[in-house]
Amino acid sequence: MAILVTGGAGFIGSNFVLEWLAQSSESVVVLDKLTYAGNPDNLSSVQNDARFKLVQGDIGDRTLVSDLLTKHGIRAVLNFAAESHVDRSIHAPGEFIQTNVVGTFELLEAVRAYWGALEGDARQAFRFLHVSTDEVYGSLGDNDPAFTEQHRYEPNSPYSASKAASDHLVRAYHHTYGLPVLTTNCSNNYGPFHFPEKLIPLMILNALNGKALPVYGDGRNVRDWLYVTDHCSAIRRVLESGLLGETYNIGGWNEKTNLEVVHTLCDILDDLSPRSDAKSYREQMQFVKDRPGHDRRYAIDASKVERELGWRPAETFDSGIRKTVRWYLDHPQWVQGVVSGAYRDWVKTQYGQ
Ligand code: NAD
Ligand code: TYD
Repeated sequence: MAILVTGGAGFIGSNFVLEWLAQSSESVVVLDKLTYAGNPDNLSSVQNDARFKLVQGDIGDRTLVSDLLTKHGIRAVLNFAAESHVDRSIHAPGEFIQTNVVGTFELLEAVRAYWGALEGDARQAFRFLHVSTDEVYGSLGDNDPAFTEQHRYEPNSPYSASKAASDHLVRAYHHTYGLPVLTTNCSNNYGPFHFPEKLIPLMILNALNGKALPVYGDGRNVRDWLYVTDHCSAIRRVLESGLLGETYNIGGWNEKTNLEVVHTLCDILDDLSPRSDAKSYREQMQFVKDRPGHDRRYAIDASKVERELGWRPAETFDSGIRKTVRWYLDHPQWVQGVVSGAYRDWVKTQYGQ
């Protein structure tokens, strides 16, 4: 028995795989296209674990997915694979449609055929868990209540529209074919292995490199932050006990403006790795042109997953953000590999072509 984790070399997927192997005896097959965001180095600590296998490939490759499902007797698919960066989706939406919409469709088709041929307990136990985002719900006003699972979908960026489309396909495969699906919609994650194009790792690395800290617009957009291992524990809980066809909102009850986040990062860095001139990293902050269509506020109401499945986050924002800064300070080689693109060479060395 094994699980298939798509996108398992990315930020959240790799954290999930590492925790899974630490906590379970069950094998993991990772299917990852290894785009710029996929980094096998994230998984180097388990590369010699006999229960772990990394396959480079596309979720849109139905033949490959079908072969993996059969060959490894997969009992659950966890779909993390996606193009995930809003700014990239604004510059070049095509890849987002290809992977997030068409790729998810091809993956669902492969899974539907495989599950359709299962019998007895194996058919009963099979699960397809789709990892999605709060961004499908659109943007909240300052005083609006947080997103519940009943909130209507109002995606505003090519990224969130493509994720919304994938959520709808997953829902339809349950409704139409009875595919045993679960969907999670999570708020912004942060923590180890976060690719430095996203706000938190970008600010940490720019600060340390003496570069500007670019704050979009007025810096008062609000995100609801969740430490990545809390997201992983929620996904495990939903996989174990979630009701088929249901969606679960996952969040950290940690709404912060971008300014609050950047100030906090600067203050922690001032403490852990002070500038040589003893000035604050806050001096490097710069307001820049806003993101087009920038969603003002996201906030997750995570009471359903707590009430029905007993899940709550373990980290507060204060504990998680400090751990995160520490992790980046303690892993200069990982940073160097990502920034220089050297991890691509590592793939060739370790896994061949
Ligand atoms: P990421 O960009 O760090 O990783 C995505 C991974 O998917 C990469 O390893 C990439 O190589 C792989 N991938 C891309 N296209 C693929 C394809 N066609 N076939 C196979 N693999 C492919 O993203 P992340 O931040 O780890 O997000 C993982 C999932 O969680 C995504 O579905 C995202 O929408 C969702 N999510 C992310 C956040 C967040 O804050 N990062 C919050 C909520 C939900
Ligand atoms: P990001 O990490 O890209 O996540 P998302 O857009 O999916 O929420 O951005 C988080 C917030 O930080 C968002 O409001 C945009 C803002 N931001 C900046 O102000 N400057 C930056 O350089 C980046 C990357 C993001």
